[in-house]
Amino acid sequence: MITAEILKDFKSGTDLLHYLEQHKAENPLFEKVYENYIYENELKKLQAELVNLQKWVIENKKKVAIIFEGRDASGKGGTVRRFAEHLNPRAMRIVALNKPTEIEKHQWYFNRYIKELPNAGEIVFFDRSWYNRAVVEPVMGFCTPDQYDRFMVQVPEFEHMLYESGTIIIKFWFSVSKDEQLKRFGGRLKSELKKWKYSPVDEKGQELWDTFTYYKDQMFTRTHHSFSPWIIVKSDNKKLARLESIKYVLSLFDYEGKNEAKTSLLVDPNVVHRYFRLI
Ligand code: ADP
Ligand code: AMP
Ligand code: MLT
Repeated sequence: MITAEILKDFKSGTDLLHYLEQHKAENPLFEKVYENYIYENELKKLQAELVNLQKWVIENKKKVAIIFEGRDASGKGGTVRRFAEHLNPRAMRIVALNKPTEIEKHQWYFNRYIKELPNAGEIVFFDRSWYNRAVVEPVMGFCTPDQYDRFMVQVPEFEHMLYESGTIIIKFWFSVSKDEQLKRFGGRLKSELKKWKYSPVDEKGQELWDTFTYYKDQMFTRTHHSFSPWIIVKSDNKKLARLESIKYVLSLFDYEGKNEAKTSLLVDPNVVHRYFRLI
């Protein structure tokens, strides 16, 4: 039972969410409460904060690019949707580019992404980004080794130029375990609403798991810089990943009204943290 006694020990909805998540096996009711009430409630509060942030971005003519990377089914798309849900569509965009066309294939690799970068007063969400060339493309054989090598050299230079021109880049890596990815692929195939998400690239996610890991590690060690760090989001728990990644973005800005936030904005480092090398 969730009693008033239990509730008073929690300072924020996310703390309670953690507790319920840990104890849901003991009480099936916890799972329902966790799903339907706490999460939705917390999400709404954080989305209201995003509205304040967007207002500040518009007024101060900031340029913000938020990149969502990760394996297939790591929860990127679902998170982008929650970020964008209540924002003014005139001052934000979601960019989810298709595979390159024949014309794009012959352009400088960054060309088609540059067109999508934020203008002053805009937040742009990249559901996948130029980092396709760091992981998916070499793993799947969509680029040559030369193209890959050139990209890995150019990407820090490219991001440094963006940084110097005042573009704020936030790079998220959504981290999903192998078992959870398999479960989600199963769910996609069974669901009428999600089956469009399942692609030939997904099929390879499990089989080529270790190859993905190799390129991911290369990407982290070679493209993590003070001016564009990688932020890891543990996303086996989709809901926590969404809430904590929103909080992380909010934590970076000193927008008006922040101090009056109706919920804790402290990011849980067990869910979201900067990349660091273990050895
Ligand atoms: P998503 O996970 O984004 O829904 P997929 O898993 O199908 O999409 O593909 C992963 C990424 O690889 C996408 O950004 C897609 O555009 C890209 N991609 C797929 N096929 C090719 C290709 N032949 N050449 C280059 N990129 C490709
Ligand atoms: P990812 O490759 O980030 O999608 O993560 C795949 C799985 O490996 C997740 O369960 C991670 O928690 C785990 N993992 C990622 N990096 C490391 C690491 N350096 N050491 C141990 N486990 C890791
Ligand atoms: C994906 O890789 O397709 C994304 O993570 C979509 C999602 O699971 O929301």
